[in-house]
Amino acid sequence: MDLFDLKGKTALVTGGNGGIGLGMARGLTAAGARVAIAGRDGSKNAAAVKELGGNALSVTADLKDEKACRAMVEEAAKHLGRLDILVNNAGTNVRKRPEEYSLEEWKLVLDTNLTSAFVASQAAYPHLKRASGGKIVNIGSMMSLFGAAFVAPYGASKGGIVQLTRALACAWARDNIQVNAVLPGWIDTALTQRARKDIPGLHENVLRRTPAGRWGEPGDLSGIAVFLCSKASDFVTGTAIPVDGGYSSQG
Ligand SMILES: NC(=O)c1ccc[n+]([C@@H]2O[C@H](COP(=O)([O-])OP(=O)(O)OC[C@H]3O[C@@H](n4cnc5c(N)ncnc54)[C@H](OP(=O)(O)O)[C@@H]3O)[C@@H](O)[C@H]2O)c1
Repeated sequence: MDLFDLKGKTALVTGGNGGIGLGMARGLTAAGARVAIAGRDGSKNAAAVKELGGNALSVTADLKDEKACRAMVEEAAKHLGRLDILVNNAGTNVRKRPEEYSLEEWKLVLDTNLTSAFVASQAAYPHLKRASGGKIVNIGSMMSLFGAAFVAPYGASKGGIVQLTRALACAWARDNIQVNAVLPGWIDTALTQRARKDIPGLHENVLRRTPAGRWGEPGDLSGIAVFLCSKASDFVTGTAIPVDGGYSSQG
C-alpha cells in the first residue's frame, strides 16, 4: 500500500491559481488526485488548469461572498463527482498600523482569510461524510504564532485559522475527517512580492532570520499537502505545522 497515493481522490484548493495554493495543487495532482482550483481571476484560473493538466478544473468565485463560497463547493463537488479534500488557502493582506484601518479593510481580510474557510468547510462537510471521511487543510501563517505592528486583521485571521482548525478537528474526528493547519514561513509569491516592495529591508531580514537562509518556494508546500491529504496522516488531526525553513524555531 502506498501511504501517499491519492489516485481516485478529488480535491478543491481555494486560491489554487497561483503561489502556495498552486504549489499544493501540483503536489496533490502528482500524487494522483483530481484537483479543482478556485479564484476570482478567470485568466489565472485557466493558466493554472493548463499547467496542472489532465483532469484539473477551475471554479471562478469571490470567496468573501458567502453564497459564492457555498456555490463554489457545490460546483466543484458536482464536476469532480465527489469531494475528499478541501484546502482553504485563499488569502489576502492589507498592511498598515492598527489605528489606520477602516472597518471595511478589517472585514475584507477576515472574510477572505477566515470566514471563507469556515463557510467552505461547512459546505464541504456533507460531501466529505458521503465519501466516508476526508481531509481539510487550512493555511495559517507565522502570524498565527507571532505579532507584528502592520498585520492586525491578518494576524487575527491567521490566529483564528488555528483555533478553527482545532474546533473542526474535534467536531469531525468521528466522521473520519482530519483537519489540520499549515503555517508557511516566508514564501516567494505575488503576496510577498508586494510586501517586499512595501517594506524596505524585508528581503534581507527574511534571509537573515530564516535558518535555512532562503525564501521558501510554492513547491516547498507540495509535500505537506500530500501528507496531510493522504492516508499517511489518518491519525493526525488538529495540528498546526510550520513549513518555514526553521523560522519559528529560532529565538
Ligand atoms: N507567501 C507567504 O509568505 C505566506 C506566508 C504565510 C501564509 N501565506 C498564506 O498563503 C495563502 C496563499 O498566499 P500566497 O502567498 O500564495 O499569495 P497569492 O499568490 O497572492 O495567492 C492568493 C490566492 O488567493 C486567491 N484569492 C484572494 N482573494 C480571494 C477571494 N476573495 N476569492 C477567491 N480567491 C481569492 C487568489 O486568487 P485570485 O486573485 O484569482 O482571486 C490567489 O490564488 C494565503 O492564505 C496567505 O495568507 C502566505
